[in-house]
Amino acid sequence: MKNITKICCIGAGYVGGPTMAVIANKCPHIQVTVVDLNEARIAAWNDVDTDNIPVYEPGLSEVVAEARGRNLFFSTAVDDAIAEADMIFISVNTPTKTYGAGKGMGADLKYIELCARQIARVSMTDKIIVEKSTLPVRTAEAVRDILHNTGKGVKFQVLSNPEFLAEGTAVADLFNPDRVLIGGDSTEEGQEAIQALVDIYNNWIPRERILTTNVWSSELSKLVANAFLAQRISSINSISELCEKTEADVNEVARAIGTDSRIGSKFLKASVGFGGSCFQKDILNLVYISRSFGLQEVADYWEQVIIMNDHQKKRFALNMIKSLYNTISGKKIAFLGWAFKKDTNDTRESAAIYVADELLNEQARIRVYDPKVNSDQIFGDLNYLQTRKPEENASNVKVFEDPYRACENAHAIAILTEWDEFKDYDWQRIYDSMLKPAKVFDGRNLLDADKLRKIGFKVQSIGTTS
Ligand code: UDX
Ligand code: UDX
Ligand code: ADP
Repeated sequence: MKNITKICCIGAGYVGGPTMAVIANKCPHIQVTVVDLNEARIAAWNDVDTDNIPVYEPGLSEVVAEARGRNLFFSTAVDDAIAEADMIFISVNTPTKTYGAGKGMGADLKYIELCARQIARVSMTDKIIVEKSTLPVRTAEAVRDILHNTGKGVKFQVLSNPEFLAEGTAVADLFNPDRVLIGGDSTEEGQEAIQALVDIYNNWIPRERILTTNVWSSELSKLVANAFLAQRISSINSISELCEKTEADVNEVARAIGTDSRIGSKFLKASVGFGGSCFQKDILNLVYISRSFGLQEVADYWEQVIIMNDHQKKRFALNMIKSLYNTISGKKIAFLGWAFKKDTNDTRESAAIYVADELLNEQARIRVYDPKVNSDQIFGDLNYLQTRKPEENASNVKVFEDPYRACENAHAIAILTEWDEFKDYDWQRIYDSMLKPAKVFDGRNLLDADKLRKIGFKVQSIGTTS
C-alpha cells in the first residue's frame, strides 16, 4: 500500500489554499506544498501576518498559522514540488470558455491540460493525481491520456475528489464535511490509489462519510450537486415573484415547504440571485455536455435555472428604477454589500455586479460599501463586463470604507450581500442623512422591515408586499 508522505497542490486559490491548509493541519506527518505561478499570491500566503493571506475565510488564518513552516509550504517552484510529491492535487481554475467552441458554456480546460503536461514532463516517480477543480465529466480521461504517454515508464493513477466546501464556511466544511467523494479506477492500482486518499481523509473524517465511486460518477456528482443547490434558489426566487403579486410571503412559503422532510429547509432563501464561482459555471457546463450528447430536453431543463437567476437580478434592478419614479439618472444609490455572499471577499458572479451595471446604464451614481471587498476589485468587476468605458465606471461609482458615508444623501439603499453587521447599523442615523422618501431595497430579506418602516423608510423586500 502506498504511503503518502509528500503532497503537492497546484493552484493556491480559494479551493487549493484552504483545502491544503486543513490537510496539513490534520496530518502533521505529511508534507504539503502548495504551488502557484502567481508570485504575488504565493507571497501573500507566506505573509508573516497570516491576516494578510489572499483568501478571507473565518478561521483560516489560524489554521495556516499553525501548520505553515511546519508541514505546510507555499511556493512558486512548481516543478520541484511536483517532482518530490507522491500525490498531486490539481486545483487550478476552470473558468467558462470565452472563445471558440463552447464559448460562454463549456469549461476552459487549458489550465488543467497545462498542469497535466507539466506533471508528465517533470515526474520521475509514480504518482497519484487528484482532480480537485470542478471539471466536466471525462476530464480525467484527457489527463490520463497525457500522463500515460510520457514514455518514461512512470505510472500515474488519476482520481477525482471534488470539493464541496462553500466559501465563507470553508474551514468548518473542511473540518466537518457531510461527505468526501473519491472516484477512481476499478483496477487493483486504482483501488490502491483510492485507499491512499481515503487514509489521508480518515485522519479526521469518519470512514462512513468517505464515499468511493468510479471516476465518472464522482466528476458528474460535483456538477449535479451544484446544479441541484442552484435549482432550489431559482425555484424559490421564481416563487418570490409570484408572492409579490399574490400577497403571499416567500419567507412563510419557504418555511412551510421546508418543514417537509422530503424537501428540507436549506437553500430556500429568496435573494437577488445566486452568485459565486461555481453555480453558474457548473450548470452551463452541464447544459453544454447534455447538448453535446444531443440531450436537448435535459439541457433546456437545467438552462432554465440560469435564465431564472438572470431574470431575478434584472428584476431587482428594474424594480428599483420603477420605484424611483422611472428615472435614476444622477441619483445616488448606496449598495451595502458587493461580495456574492457574506463572510467572503470573493465577488465572482456576484449579483451586485449585474445590478450595478443595470443601474449605471440608467446613469445612476452608485456608492458601494462592503466590509471585505476593496475598490480595485469592484472596479475590476465592472470593467470586466465592458459595458462602458472604465472612465465612466470610475466617475459614476464611488467606494467607501464607512457605510454611513456611503448612505449619506442617497435616494435609496440596496442590500446586495447578507453581511450580519448591516443588521446592527444605526438605521435612524442613516435615515436622517438620506434624501426623502428614503428607500431600502432588501435583496436578501436581511433587515427588520417593520423596524425600518417605523423609522420612516420605504422598504421593499424580495417576495413580500407587506
Ligand atoms: C457552492 C456550493 O454550496 C459548494 O458545495 C460548492 O463546493 C461550491 O459552490 P459557494 O458558491 O461558496 O458554494 O456558496 P453557496 O453558499 O452555495 O452560495 C451560492 C450563492 O447562492 C450565493 O450567492 C448565495 O447568496 C446564494 N444563496 C444561497 C441564495 O440566494 N439562497 C440560499 O438559500 C442559499
Ligand atoms: C403526493 C405528495 O407526496 C403528497 O404530499 C401530496 O399530498 C399529494 O401528492 P402521492 O401522489 O400520493 O403524494 O405520492 P408520492 O409518493 O409523492 O409520489 C408521486 C409520484 O412520484 C409517484 O408516481 C412516485 O412513483 C413518483 N416518485 C416519487 C418518483 O418517481 N421518484 C421519487 O423519488 C419519489
Ligand atoms: P479556485 O476557486 O478553483 O480555487 P482560483 O482562481 O482561486 O480558483 O485559483 C486557481 C489558482 O491556480 C490561481 O491562483 C492560478 O494562478 C493557479 N494556476 C493556474 N494554472 C496553474 C499552473 N499551470 N501552475 C500553477 N498554478 C496555476
